[in-house]
This record gives sequence, structure tokens and C-alpha cells, in this order.
Amino acid sequence: MKTSEIKIVVHEFETILELPEIDRQLILEARKATTRAYAPYSGFHVGAAVLLGNGEIITGNNQENSAYPSGLCAERVALFYANANYPDSEIKTIAVSAAKNGILVNEPVKPCGSCRQSLAETELRFKHPIRIILDGKDSIMVLQGVESLLPLSFSKKAL
Ligand code: THU
Repeated sequence: MKTSEIKIVVHEFETILELPEIDRQLILEARKATTRAYAPYSGFHVGAAVLLGNGEIITGNNQENSAYPSGLCAERVALFYANANYPDSEIKTIAVSAAKNGILVNEPVKPCGSCRQSLAETELRFKHPIRIILDGKDSIMVLQGVESLLPLSFSKKAL
């Protein structure tokens, strides 16, 4: 038997003020996007903001449905819009925020498995690491690539 350890790197910041201006802008866009979420079933309003290689910012938010699985998370709404409309532009960073009753959640929001898989696909597609910023009132987590969010992922390399 062989045992190996997989290292993931998470940088944690106490406030948005510790981050560079472009990250702060992205977080503020993600927070703003929470206010436009359609989440009547969960009441959990998520916003995502994506920074493209060309400097543009794309936002998305969760879109729920009475047939629950038909809804989509904020991250994938933003990611798929970006990929659909800017098929030649890599994604440099994604920031994710969430609010309950209009108040930013305390803990940084963690993307679901399907969003992690979609982020992994986008990284491979553009051959560019995606920085991930997970926003919360108590702390903000920054990951330098999807590998730290989804180690041992399935990818086209296996096909
Ligand atoms: N949700 C997101 O949009 N992103 C996440 O990272 C976690 C969960 C949404 C899905 C659903 O609309 C609601 O939050 C509750 O799960």
C-alpha cells in the first residue's frame, strides 16, 4: 500500500480591504449579483462574478425552479454565460458571495460539486488557472486554481 497526501492551498483574509483592487471590485459585483438572484425556494441568494482575460466582468446568480433540479447555481450561470459569449476569452478569477435575508453569510460560501466540475472544465479548456474567491463576512478565502477546490477530478485526460 502507498499513501499519499494531497495539498490544497487556501489563503484566508479577514476583510476585503486586504485584497487587491480588482479582487475587491469582483467581490462587490458578486455581492451585488446576490440581490438579483431568483431563489424563492431556498431563500439563499448567491452571486458570482467572473473576470475575463479581456478585463470584462460577467455576473450571474442562482436561478431556482419549482422543479428543483431544473434550477442552476450562480457560478454556472456566470461561467456558462461567459463561455457562451466570449468563447475565446479565458477566465482569470471567479468571486462567489451569498446572502440570506439580504445579509451576507458569515462563512465563505463553498461551490457545489457540479460547479467545481464545470470550473475544472473551463480551466482545461483555456489552459489557464482560475483563481477562486469565496466571500463571507467573517473571512474571505482565495484559491489559486480549481485543483485546490476539486483534487483528483475527472477530466478529458481520462477519455
Ligand atoms: N447555490 C449556488 O448558487 N451556489 C453555491 O455555491 C451553493 C448553492 C444555490 C443553489 C440553490 O439555488 C441554493 O443555492 C440553495 O442550495
